[in-house]
Amino acid sequence: MRYAAQKGTKDILPAEIYKWHKAERVFAGVCHDFGYEEIRIPTFEQTDLFQRGVGDTTDVVTKEMYTFNDKGGRSITLRPEGTAGVVRSYIENGMASLPSPVRMFYNITAFRYEKMQKGRMREFHQFGLEAFGSEGPSIDAEIISVVDIFFRKMGIKNIALHINSIGCPVCRNKYNEMLKDYFRPHVDTMCEDCRARFEKNPLRMIDCKIDGEKDVVRNAPRLIDHLCDDCRAHFEGLKSRLDAVGIKYEIDPNIVRGLDYYTRTVFEFVSENVGTQGTICGGGRYDGLVENCGGAPTPGIGFAMGVERFLLEAEAQGISFEENDSVKIYLAGMSDAANTKIAKICYDLRLNGIGCETDLMNRSFKAQMKYAGKSGIPYLAVIGDDELASGQVNIKKMEDGTVTPVELDKIADFLTAK
Ligand code: HAM
Repeated sequence: MRYAAQKGTKDILPAEIYKWHKAERVFAGVCHDFGYEEIRIPTFEQTDLFQRGVGDTTDVVTKEMYTFNDKGGRSITLRPEGTAGVVRSYIENGMASLPSPVRMFYNITAFRYEKMQKGRMREFHQFGLEAFGSEGPSIDAEIISVVDIFFRKMGIKNIALHINSIGCPVCRNKYNEMLKDYFRPHVDTMCEDCRARFEKNPLRMIDCKIDGEKDVVRNAPRLIDHLCDDCRAHFEGLKSRLDAVGIKYEIDPNIVRGLDYYTRTVFEFVSENVGTQGTICGGGRYDGLVENCGGAPTPGIGFAMGVERFLLEAEAQGISFEENDSVKIYLAGMSDAANTKIAKICYDLRLNGIGCETDLMNRSFKAQMKYAGKSGIPYLAVIGDDELASGQVNIKKMEDGTVTPVELDKIADFLTAK
């Protein structure tokens, strides 16, 4: 029997993990610079949280959730995204009593039963953040800056930022009525999803994957033209703050996002390199979600970035991730006594935070040299009885072949100075 990874899942192999580590490190660093702390939430939650939080008219909830009954008969769902779980944790752990805004970032796996495509997986990873308690629009611009700075630090260019406002319940309800009047004569010709949305959430008809390109949808009234005064002022505030820091954006009235919790600001970072799944990062404001999940009314905002999509983009842009450079030196032993000494040298080096490797396979000297040469480890030291007697070893820099004599108990000092 040969087992294979499940459809839509992928191993992240040791040979590529350095890319993930770098992206994770840079993302966490940028979040810390903005005052965000990491939160780790459970992989599964009770199903109702997502139905209520993400919204029971969304594709994510109606078609894509991994839902099952556990042995205790509870309906459990593997998280399809992070926001609902973070909101649940915010409420459950009484974080409303902390100084606002309460800011958290995360690095999670998420699960959606979707048709496989480039950049579309069933188990995927998201870098994300959520901030509670600030009405914005300063924080709206700030979280967009987090993504912008992350991209810049990773060397990624030319990702288009699209922004929109989808209003508050007041202007959106009015707009939904207007949309219903507009779509009523056409609804019978539209897809099944649109017919369901016509009743429950007409706004979502605007970004229908099936009918979205039809003239009737393209010519529909745009919510951005019907915002109430407060929502318009909020959107203008966001634009002026983005202008102030020099972040370029396009206003895209068709972004409504696929999850029901959004209010006012919505945004997406889009690229052409990730196949049809061009959205690398999406987010927005969700001022009603905490209350909807049982907490006190609290404004909230956040985003999530698909890490696989980000890495596809990085690859398409030819971004070089530094190679794994944690191992600094390979120590080859020529005798039993030398190997014993090497074990002690390695122990001390590692205790000092200096990565090193030695032979663990009983390889011949020649095979050890071959291994060291291929491994990309920058320094090599060969220790035999002569070196034990003299207490000194020649350390070779593999890049250019230069050799430096170093005392056996000063190897750490030599490497630290490099
Ligand atoms: P989302 O737009 O559903 O938003 O997902 C965010 C990102 O996750 C997408 O832009 C995409 O890069 C990635 N993604 C989504 N589905 C897949 C998939 N099947 N395979 C690979 N990558 C995928 C959210 O999840 C919201 N929770 C974002 C948010 C946080 N809004 C406010 N706070």
